Amino acid sequence: MSSPGTLSAMPVAPGRWPLLGHTPSLLRQRFGFTSSLAQHGDVVKVYLGPLPAYAVTSPALIHQILVTDGKKFDKGILFDRFRPFFGNGIAMSNDPFHARQRRLVQPAFHINRIADYAGKMSEVSAAIADSWRPNQVVEFDQAMQELSVTIAGRTLFTTELGGAAIAEAQRSMPVVIKQGMIRALSPGFVTHLPIPGNRQFDQAIERLRAIVLAVIAEGREQQEDRGDILSMLLSARDDDTGEPMTDQQVYDEVVTLLTGGIETTALALSWFFHEIARHPQIQERWHDEIDALGGRPVTYEDVPKLTYTSQISKEVLRRYPIWLLMRRTNTDVDLDGTVVPPATEVVFSPHALHHDPRFYPNPYRFDPDRWDAAKTPPPPPGAYVPFSDGSRKCIGNHFALAEMAIAAATIGSRWRMVPVPGRHVRIKVTGAAYPSQLPMTAVPRVV
Ligand code: HEM
Repeated sequence: MSSPGTLSAMPVAPGRWPLLGHTPSLLRQRFGFTSSLAQHGDVVKVYLGPLPAYAVTSPALIHQILVTDGKKFDKGILFDRFRPFFGNGIAMSNDPFHARQRRLVQPAFHINRIADYAGKMSEVSAAIADSWRPNQVVEFDQAMQELSVTIAGRTLFTTELGGAAIAEAQRSMPVVIKQGMIRALSPGFVTHLPIPGNRQFDQAIERLRAIVLAVIAEGREQQEDRGDILSMLLSARDDDTGEPMTDQQVYDEVVTLLTGGIETTALALSWFFHEIARHPQIQERWHDEIDALGGRPVTYEDVPKLTYTSQISKEVLRRYPIWLLMRRTNTDVDLDGTVVPPATEVVFSPHALHHDPRFYPNPYRFDPDRWDAAKTPPPPPGAYVPFSDGSRKCIGNHFALAEMAIAAATIGSRWRMVPVPGRHVRIKVTGAAYPSQLPMTAVPRVV
């Protein structure tokens, strides 16, 4: 379907309320609303309260927004609201500052460094899997949160104070993420109200700031490469000026990595086990693959050999991606024949794209064989964006995929996960898809 040529002629999504716009439909119907938009056009006008935004539904246009015209877009209104609380790290900032910071942070995610982090991923996963007793009911979402925060902490900081920073991140990050999201979506005065949520947020940020700044000071004193991400951030130098990052910049990047890296990976691993537990034949076929490693610790070199594991991870990230992403034009952009002026908010839904039957037949079926290149051609560019794409693509994507493969194979070599009868798992959507609960029985495997 092609758009009609002028912004005012763009179709408006049905279900608009006076003043509230489409916000009630977005919040009430969530996935249903974003998935319904494609039937109205490739670009559909929606109102976020009184603010007009353009919902893009075609993969080709999304590829243009993220990749070919990526430089013509900033992150948009939601990130403007996040910035006062989460700082100006690479997930929040706009170019040219973003491009400079991304160059400074990128070496910490070089493939050789991830190979070093993999040893820690393997150790932490083994310690958690070995702490379960036969036939114990594991609250799996909580276990994966603990696994992910411990791996993030141990790869970020290995200084003496690092342990305290990890403990603080474990305590503070859930509060910071939840309350930060509420603040970003609320009118400004809400931040100043003396309500418990605000107090908890302020205290969590204060504690986190104190310990992260102390770890940064300790790292600067030691001046050595300890093989962790913090060492890389401290040793990075700007190409043009030769200057290192200030403490504030390092702090913003650390908080950005904690915010972007922990919950996302924990959720992906939770859904990984939820799906294989619900599909015993997939779990069995997967066990055959990981058993070929012979039960030894899983290494980074094993990851490319785990092809079925990688197919399952891709399918998990297709089924349970982030719900919405936003951008804002910083110049005129031609979207399929319509010129969109600067400062226009654009929104798209990875979830809706990943469940569009034009690209994924029977989209709600969990089928890792979709990702078997010998059987199924890949989806078109822009139709699979679990990590976004272009210059703002997730900097932690290789890290996350390695963590998923290593943690899953380490757990799966010891335990078969079985759903607990009568405890129904629902999907709760905020920005990401959370399980309402995820109890699973860990049945020992005899290999
Ligand atoms: C399965 C796990 C993960 C998923 C699904 C995921 C998803 C995403 C997505 C969709 C974006 C783009 C957001 C946007 O365009 O607005 C993003 C950006 C980002 N992610 Fe991840 N992420 C994951 C793991 C990680 C990890 C492990 C880290 C770090 C340790 C990380 C750090 C970041 C950062 C710093 C950005 C901002 C990049 C930039 O704008 O330059 N993520 N992630």
